[in-house]
Amino acid sequence: MTAPILVTRRLPAEAMAFLEARCDVTLFDEDRPIPRDRLLSEAKGKRGLLPLLTDRIDDEVLSAAGPDLAVVANYAVGYDNIDVAACTRRGIIVTNTPDVLTDTTADLTWSLILAASRRIVEGDRLVRATRPWAWAPEFLLGREVTGKTLGVVGFGRIGRAVAARARGFEMRALYHARREHPEAAALGAEHRAFEALLAEADVVSVHIPLTEDTRHRFGEAEFRAMKTTAVFVNTARGPIVDEAALARALRDGEIFAAGLDVYESEPEIHPDLLALDNVVLAPHLGSATVETRTAMGMLAAENLVAVLDGRRPPTPVNAEVLDR
Ligand code: GLV
Ligand code: GLV
Repeated sequence: MTAPILVTRRLPAEAMAFLEARCDVTLFDEDRPIPRDRLLSEAKGKRGLLPLLTDRIDDEVLSAAGPDLAVVANYAVGYDNIDVAACTRRGIIVTNTPDVLTDTTADLTWSLILAASRRIVEGDRLVRATRPWAWAPEFLLGREVTGKTLGVVGFGRIGRAVAARARGFEMRALYHARREHPEAAALGAEHRAFEALLAEADVVSVHIPLTEDTRHRFGEAEFRAMKTTAVFVNTARGPIVDEAALARALRDGEIFAAGLDVYESEPEIHPDLLALDNVVLAPHLGSATVETRTAMGMLAAENLVAVLDGRRPPTPVNAEVLDR
């Protein structure tokens, strides 16, 4: 008998086929996040859950699933949607999808850095509005990227990949993390205290996970500490940023521009941000390429199946459960 599992949204075909060949798959096959009551009822009796970052997997869901649940294989690298401590208490393994989306997310980060610095989206809006325009010495001037200073906050896989790309733009790279990383030297990146980085960087890019500690790490004081010419980019998690404070800073010219891929109350976007021209708003596209979404699907599926087969999953989050 194959193990019953719940997949909360249709994954790329290769990953669905892999799972269907090995498990008894219940799929919430609608074009929207699974409603809470459906998640609770469909989880019942399952041995594995494969949720998205839009699905909150907390104690209530684990209770609803019952004692057979062995693995929660998140289809994301971030796992702030999962109560990992509750899973660990119950001996449930949590896995995520690191590595396969690192370059893709770093590329998207650079898309936002360039688009915000060079006012690409504002220009696109202008020409589509069929307003008259002509090349002029001071028409739609942005801020130079090449040769400037990049400040990366958080120096995990994605932060490092973003810093590595700065070399192509002949930029100086600074990073802030709780500890100094020896591998930073190879990337030419220098460690700074948080406040020093904010004051020195021309581009500030966020690459820390969302935890109770990092909620609103960027607020009024942080934006004021940045240069008035600074470009701020967030491709990590929305609640790390106080959106109302960011909107005020952008409106009042405390910073030059911003590029966002994630939001405080996703998918809602703060109305004050929507009203501004100097912020580029992407709908959480960090890992959204054909290649990467397939690779994430395969990794999540392999993680889930490995646990059900009694093997070590490739990328566990709470490895201590495996080592008990
Ligand atoms: C996307 O936001 C992810 O965490 O993979
Ligand atoms: C710009 O198009 C230039 O020729 O300088």
